[in-house]
Amino acid sequence: MLGVRHIFIKEDPAATTLQQLELQCAACQKCALAQTRTHIVFGEGDPQARIMIVGEAPGAEEDKQGRPFVGEAGKLLNNMLNAIGIERGETFICNILKCRPPGNRDPQPAEREACVPYLLKQMDIIKPSIILVLGLVAAQTLLNTRQSLGQLREGEHFIQKIPAHVTYHPAALLRNPNWKRPAWQDL
Ligand code: URA
Repeated sequence: MLGVRHIFIKEDPAATTLQQLELQCAACQKCALAQTRTHIVFGEGDPQARIMIVGEAPGAEEDKQGRPFVGEAGKLLNNMLNAIGIERGETFICNILKCRPPGNRDPQPAEREACVPYLLKQMDIIKPSIILVLGLVAAQTLLNTRQSLGQLREGEHFIQKIPAHVTYHPAALLRNPNWKRPAWQDL
């Protein structure tokens, strides 16, 4: 699959820099999550990163701090990256949603549709060489598929023509430590 822009074609944010885009996100009222967020979580890291990492949505700690992957799942993500010789700061880490769904429920279709154009624009601006997609929800959203995580981990994917790999979400690894070995193999 050579890109998925067609499913989110409704909107192409006009920003040309990450700073402009972040301001747009901070003002965004496109879905109801704007009413319940404390902070948007735009993403962070090297604006010219070779590796972009995409998770699902901010959790409670991320919403509080306005930064992605700062809770327990974030610590594990940092360790996973370090284990393959990568520092978190060399990557750009973000999510398919910029705002926290209350109670950490799954992102709803309208929320994904409102928010993914911002992520695609981040990809356009950063132009990573590789995208690492964490977990089923992010992968099914970005690849517009209902395939299982097992199938998606094995497949070759492209998002916006950028090679993309799918692996377990670190929060899932915290719940199922026996998946850590295959996750390490994915990396
Ligand atoms: N889980 C995610 O998917 N993203 C975060 O930023 C934190 C936890």
